[in-house]
Amino acid sequence: MTSSEGWDNREFSFAKADFDSVRTLLYQLTGIRLADSKDSMVYSRLARRVRSLKLQGFSQYLHHLNTHPCEEEHFINALTTNLTSFFREPHHFDILKKYLIAHPKTRTIWCAASSTGEEPYSIAMVVAETFAMFDVPIKIIASDVDSQVLQKAKAGIYSIDRINSLAEERKKQFFFKGKGAFTGMVKVVPELQKMVEFRQINLLKSEWSLREPIDIIFCRNVMIYFDRSTQLKVLERMVKLLPADGLYVAGHSETFNNATHLVRSAGNTTYYPNHSVR
Ligand SMILES: C[S@@+](CC[C@H](N)C(=O)[O-])C[C@H]1O[C@@H](n2cnc3c(N)ncnc32)[C@H](O)[C@@H]1O
Repeated sequence: MTSSEGWDNREFSFAKADFDSVRTLLYQLTGIRLADSKDSMVYSRLARRVRSLKLQGFSQYLHHLNTHPCEEEHFINALTTNLTSFFREPHHFDILKKYLIAHPKTRTIWCAASSTGEEPYSIAMVVAETFAMFDVPIKIIASDVDSQVLQKAKAGIYSIDRINSLAEERKKQFFFKGKGAFTGMVKVVPELQKMVEFRQINLLKSEWSLREPIDIIFCRNVMIYFDRSTQLKVLERMVKLLPADGLYVAGHSETFNNATHLVRSAGNTTYYPNHSVR
């Protein structure tokens, strides 16, 4: 037994049953599975909400959630993990460039868990660099379930240290430096912003509000939060949107090598749809 076991300095009581209610609801709403070890994370993120609603504690909050459907949005926003960065897993952006050169008729790229926007803007930078212009007939659709990160993404304003690792050329071409009240910040240039369209899409919902045919799907570092059966259901629906020579890009720990009924590996956690078995 550790010295703090059996002791608690929490402001609100948070019983195992409360944690279980939270994770059941989060799973139903988003497909996100929370491990037992996420108890403290859930407490600290939702305690803020309990406090700002001036509620007495978690049982009142869970009742509030049941009786106020609009609270679901705050609940989801509080519990998603939005870690991302510009050019995260850089090898995928080299693959993207090669793919665009080999497939000049690419028209739509879907970035399906775009978080605060660094990923879709990195995609847009590669598109602009590949064709040496911003005004390219390629639409980048960026989506997320979390409405708060989508707002931040649309604004395209970041702390300057977020672009520290970018080449000087990219910094100059794609960002404005903030002055006055915005010192220490950068803003994505409007030409790049125009290339990306943000939408709220919950991958668990049966309707994805995507009308256009999709050539490339970036779906990175979100499937890890889903269980295997949800992963495969989402992957199957995504693969159906792609043409035979389309590309699916997964996160570094999301491997689908054994989902051969759906995809075949294109190397480096990228996949081609396996339409031959349709
Ligand atoms: C760790 S971030 C990954 C961001 C980016 N794709 C990357 O690799 O850097 C995971 C994102 O998935 C989103 N997400 C979680 N569940 C989702 C769902 N059911 N539908 C859509 N997005 C979801 C979260 O809101 C979060 O922004």
